[in-house]
Amino acid sequence: MIDQEMKKAVLDNFEKVFGKNDNVKAYFAPGRVNLIGEHTDYNGGHVFPCALTIGTYGAVAKRDDDKIRFYSVNLDRTGVVETSLSDLEPSKEAGWTNYPKGVIWAFAGRGMKLDKGFDMVIYGNIPNGSGLSSSASLEVLTGFILRDLYGFDVSNQDLALIGQYSENNFNGCNCGIMDQFAVAMGKEGSAIFLDTADLSFEYAPIRLDGAKIIIANTNKKHKLTDSQYNARRSMCEEALAILQKSLDIKGLGDLSIEEFEENKGLLTDPDMQRKAKHAVYENQRTIEAVKALKAGDLERFGELMRQSHESLRDDYDVTGVELDTLAEEAWKIPGVIGSRMTGGGFGGCTVSIVKDEAIENFKKVVGENYKKKIGYDATFYTVSIGGGPEVI
Ligand code: GLA
Repeated sequence: MIDQEMKKAVLDNFEKVFGKNDNVKAYFAPGRVNLIGEHTDYNGGHVFPCALTIGTYGAVAKRDDDKIRFYSVNLDRTGVVETSLSDLEPSKEAGWTNYPKGVIWAFAGRGMKLDKGFDMVIYGNIPNGSGLSSSASLEVLTGFILRDLYGFDVSNQDLALIGQYSENNFNGCNCGIMDQFAVAMGKEGSAIFLDTADLSFEYAPIRLDGAKIIIANTNKKHKLTDSQYNARRSMCEEALAILQKSLDIKGLGDLSIEEFEENKGLLTDPDMQRKAKHAVYENQRTIEAVKALKAGDLERFGELMRQSHESLRDDYDVTGVELDTLAEEAWKIPGVIGSRMTGGGFGGCTVSIVKDEAIENFKKVVGENYKKKIGYDATFYTVSIGGGPEVI
């Protein structure tokens, strides 16, 4: 569902900043929310995200020289950031433009070099730093634009992999594949049940008769590279290496709960054992949750969402008082089917499934109790599941 005002605004801004250009084209790539399966995507486990109708809009035109100029309507104070095809190095000064630059760099590394530069304006309606994948959205948007403007032969799945590669190697965050995959492969009305071990996936229609997906933003900014995200990932890798001495597994996601319980003694560091436990249990929960959803058992799906949050809080240690307050307050409200943190954690958002008649009360009570405890407001959005990137 393209927001025509956003489209108009991004095109108007292009003309204002870079002048009139008959070749300008407009694009969109979504943000994503993960329903369940958190911190499993770098452990060869399952995830269950969906693309949103909010996302990043872009207006772009090719140039005749090798200059690249970027402008963000959201960060208008930064002004125009200029670079060139011969300067594809990450830098502090490049700020947000390191994301599109990283994608151009990753394309070049795969033999897809641009012959000319371009001018680009972006404008997003994903709240920044909210854990709804504004960076993956920008990466996939950039890849999609490069494919369209320069005629490269890459699939949407490749766009996801290129986005992740650039985020890992150009932007320094060791993220898994979930976000870029959800953005590049999104399908209206469906969540994506993805096995990150081999990228096999299936679309699962989300029919929430009489209920909606509500996102609650803690308004505490999270930045993955600043957070302990990379540290969590390394600890899981260490745990895997220890287990692999005795077990024939490729990832923690290969373990059933029984196998983990039988072998957890091999992980003698209690903290590492808890982290590995989360990865194993969360993966199994995700598989069960999708089964429950298919069987129409939304209540079970909700219970598993709650268990997921508890595991992220108690074992994986990635929630924090803001996310815990939003989830725990939500669980108390009648008509809330499920609620949990979504994304990397440490801040960002919760995702809740709430019955229509309970939504107003949910926002009011959770909002008031959050403010009382945390000291500032949370923000609530009712969201819809949208499709992947497109020319608009
Ligand atoms: C971030 C990362 C993803 C994933 C989640 C946690 O969103 O970018 O790859 O690891 O955190 O599930």
